[in-house]
Amino acid sequence: MRVASVLSALLLAAPTVVTAQQSCAECEVEAHGFASLNGGTTGGKGGRIVTVKKLDDLIRFAAATEPLIIRVDGMIKAKPFGFEVPVKSHKTIIGVGSKSGVETGGFNINSQTNIIIRNLKIHGTYDGKNNWAGKEGDYDAIQVDNSTNIWIDGNHLTGMGDGLIDLRRDTDYVTVSKNRIEKHNKAFGIGWTTNVISKITINDNFFHSTNVRNPSGDNMKYGHLYNNYYRNITGYGNYARGKSQLLIETSYFEDVFDPIVAGPNGRIKTNWVKFKRCDGEKHLDVQGDTVFRAADFYNYTLADPYDIPIDVPYNSGPKEDIGV
Ligand SMILES: *[C@@H]1O[C@H](CO)[C@@H](O)[C@H](O)[C@H]1NC(C)=O
Ligand SMILES: *[C@@H]1O[C@H](CO)[C@@H](O)[C@H](O)[C@H]1NC(C)=O
Ligand SMILES: *[C@@H]1O[C@H](CO)[C@@H](O)[C@H](O)[C@H]1NC(C)=O
Repeated sequence: MRVASVLSALLLAAPTVVTAQQSCAECEVEAHGFASLNGGTTGGKGGRIVTVKKLDDLIRFAAATEPLIIRVDGMIKAKPFGFEVPVKSHKTIIGVGSKSGVETGGFNINSQTNIIIRNLKIHGTYDGKNNWAGKEGDYDAIQVDNSTNIWIDGNHLTGMGDGLIDLRRDTDYVTVSKNRIEKHNKAFGIGWTTNVISKITINDNFFHSTNVRNPSGDNMKYGHLYNNYYRNITGYGNYARGKSQLLIETSYFEDVFDPIVAGPNGRIKTNWVKFKRCDGEKHLDVQGDTVFRAADFYNYTLADPYDIPIDVPYNSGPKEDIGV
C-alpha cells in the first residue's frame, strides 16, 4: 500500500464502521457489450470493499479517488430532495440483496470513467402531482455527462421527477442491462449533443408502464438493443433521433404505442421483433443495410423472443443473492 492510499484509507475509515469484508457476491463482475471495449468496465474491482448505510458515507466514498466497491446496505434517503450523489471514476456501487438503494435522489456521473451501478432500487422524486413533465427539478435516477465505460445493471428505477437514465454529452462505451424501468414518464434518454459518438448496448431490460423515451437516442453512433421487453407504453418505444443508428434485435413489444420510430435522419435495422397489440409506427428497416453489425465489436447471445415476456421480468431488477 502506498502512503497516499494508507492516508486516504485512514481518513475514509475514521468516522464510520467499515466492515473489513474480503469479498461479496458478484461484486467483481465486469461489463459486457460496448462497456467491455475501450479497456473494459471493471468499476472498483481490485479496490477495498466498503459498506454504507448512511447518505454521508455514500457521498464520501463515492467521491474518493481510490477504486472502491461500495455496498449500499438498506434504503438510503437522499437529502435535499432530488440530490444526486456525485460518483468519481473506478467505483462499483452495488446494492446488498433486493431491497437496497436510494430514495428521493439518485446518482450523478460527470466527466468520469469506469463506473458500475448495480442491483439498486432508485425511486421517489416524483412528487405525485407537479413534476411529472420533469420541468420542475432535474431529478434523475442516474445522470451521466461526458463520461466513458459505464455499466448500469440490475437496478429498479421508478417514479422520478425527470429521467430514470439520462446519458448525455458524448457519454460513450455504456451498457445498460437487466434493469426494471417502470411507472415513469420520461424513462431513458441519450444525447444532448451534436456529436455522433455514443456507443451503447441496451439488453435484457424490462420497460414497464412508462410513457416516452424507451429509450430515445439522439445522435447515437451505435445503439444496440436486444432481448428487451416493453409492456404498456403510452408515448413511444425506441426512437432514433438525429443521426442515430439503432440495431434492434429480439425484442418483445406488448401494448406499446409507436414501438419503433426513426426520425428523418435516423437509421434502423431490426432482427426478430415481436409485437402484441401495438398501434402506431413500426419503422423496421430505415436504411437498414447501412446499420453497423454488433458482432464486429463483441459477442452476445440473443434470447428466444417467445421467452422474453417470462424471463426478462423475472431476471430484471435487484436480486437477493447479489452484493451479499
Ligand atoms: C469531459 O471529460 C474530460 C475528462 O474525461 C475532461 O477533461 C473535459 O474537460 C470534460 N469536458 C467537459 C465539457 O466537461
Ligand atoms: C399502464 O401504464 C399506466 C401509466 O402510464 C398506468 O397508469 C396503468 O395502470 C398501466 N396499466 C397496466 C395494465 O399496467
Ligand atoms: C467471438 O467469439 C469467437 C469465438 O470465441 C472469436 O473468434 C471472435 O473473435 C469473437 N468476436 C469478437 C468480436 O470478440
